[in-house]
Amino acid sequence: MSLQKELLKRRTFGIISHPDAGKTTLTEKLLLFGGAIQEAGAVKNNKIKKGATSDFMEIERQRGISVATSVLAFYYKDKKINILDTPGHKDFAEDTFRTLTAVDSVIVVIDVAKGVEEQTEKLVEVCRMRQIPMIVFINKLDREGKDAFDLLDEVEQKLGLHVSLMSFPIGMGYDFKGIYNIWEKNINLFSGDPKKNIEDTIAFDNIDSPELEKIIGARQAGLLRDNLELIDGVYPSFDRQAYLNGTQQPVFFGSALNNFGVRELLDCFIEIAPSPRPKKAEERLVEPSESQMTGFVFKIHANMDPKHRDRLAFIKIVSGTFERNKPYLHVRQDKKMKFSSPNAFFAEKKEIIDISYPGDIVGIHDTGNFKIGDTLTENEVLHYKGIPSFSPEHFRYINNADPLKSKQLFKGIDQLMDEGVAQLFTLELNGRKVIGTVGALQYEVIQYRLQHEYGASCTYEPFPVYKACWVEATDPKNPEFKEFLRIKQKFMAKDKKNQLVFLADSAFSLQMTIEKYPSVKLHFTSEWDE
Ligand code: G4P
Repeated sequence: MSLQKELLKRRTFGIISHPDAGKTTLTEKLLLFGGAIQEAGAVKNNKIKKGATSDFMEIERQRGISVATSVLAFYYKDKKINILDTPGHKDFAEDTFRTLTAVDSVIVVIDVAKGVEEQTEKLVEVCRMRQIPMIVFINKLDREGKDAFDLLDEVEQKLGLHVSLMSFPIGMGYDFKGIYNIWEKNINLFSGDPKKNIEDTIAFDNIDSPELEKIIGARQAGLLRDNLELIDGVYPSFDRQAYLNGTQQPVFFGSALNNFGVRELLDCFIEIAPSPRPKKAEERLVEPSESQMTGFVFKIHANMDPKHRDRLAFIKIVSGTFERNKPYLHVRQDKKMKFSSPNAFFAEKKEIIDISYPGDIVGIHDTGNFKIGDTLTENEVLHYKGIPSFSPEHFRYINNADPLKSKQLFKGIDQLMDEGVAQLFTLELNGRKVIGTVGALQYEVIQYRLQHEYGASCTYEPFPVYKACWVEATDPKNPEFKEFLRIKQKFMAKDKKNQLVFLADSAFSLQMTIEKYPSVKLHFTSEWDE
């Protein structure tokens, strides 16, 4: 089949939410529809339990599971759907940010009772900045929750979105009758039986018909008509181009647990969601339909077995066709590589594939050649953009606890940083190494993995930093820049790519620095647009 046909079939997306909003449940129901799994509960284990904040054995166990569920692919109607798993645990937010560079769209899950929560805000902000098309799924309608219009206001205000309604609930919680599907013009009646895959759907294009009273009762019928009139007056109708540009977000209501509203979501998703999108490289914009293969590494997963220190590098194919045993250029290392056993991922298994298309994820066994952000091409020198590091939230000195094992320690740190487990900063003044993480949990993971995979041991020491700010290289002769470097010497470091970083020790000192040295440009991510 032609490349063009294959890529039009593909939908590669991620589901994002605050923990407990229902991401895992929704994923599972989508897989059930695709026939990719047979029973509920199959995806359930891929979750870091709430109480597990300091149990790294649990983390290790989870790491094993999450390899298998990193990419969940299935066919639905004639589409190939790739769901990229994003960890919900906030300590792994960085991992989620990186995965978002490989998706073509996202579904945002919101709990109807809790509304917009902290983690959702952060993740949606990243998607908004990147103009990623988003669909919102408001979940748990079988429970008592916020008023639908209040919740939509909250979504618009807190998340900065512009919604368009694809469906609207009829009642809620105890009184939940079903959903009116504005997109398909039908009513879906709620039976409350989670075992039923497809609910009773009644086509209903004339909302004024007296039949409505018979189905949902006079009170709900009147309310639904009023609500639809209000929606018509207040919210814009669906505009696919605006959705694709990231300026409008369609909203669905449902209950993932009850498998309610999920088919509607999926049916609409495959119609409107984008097939693989063009991607910016430093050199140029690459179209997925170009015949030459290009792709980039967005995730690296270490093998859990310490005897096999190989890792799995996840590559998103951006353009062309990826073929087994064909030589590709590893741009950063400037060398050609062939892959004899690339993996494709399906819901419950991975298997060796001969060919992959844009939108697909290929897993490659790696012995240390790849870093997150690396680009593969046929020959062209290209560097894909858009895998920035964000400022970590925790910082600690890392010390070698066993002087005989310093080589192992450095190798271990180096490889864990390539995987993106945490960020390493080297202080300019004395060369001491500082590890920055998004969550405190990673320190235990690092210590545990250094010990078990590299035979090295480390200790930590507190290092009070408020934020890491990347310093834009300005004219080194600029007196203000020179003065900044001199005065702030103690707080200057280099990141792993040798970029200069200012480690501000408090919000106050950061503010003072910005005011005192206005010509010094500080950035809160490691990549920025000039
Ligand atoms: P997450 O991946 O976003 O963290 O959420 P997950 O799907 O695990 O769902 C969190 C909890 O919310 C689960 O309950 C799940 O059963 C429940 N849930 C998901 N969708 C719905 C829904 O539509 N309605 C209702 N009422 N509940 C829903 P739990 O008790 O934490 O876990 P479990 O004991 O059910 O496994």
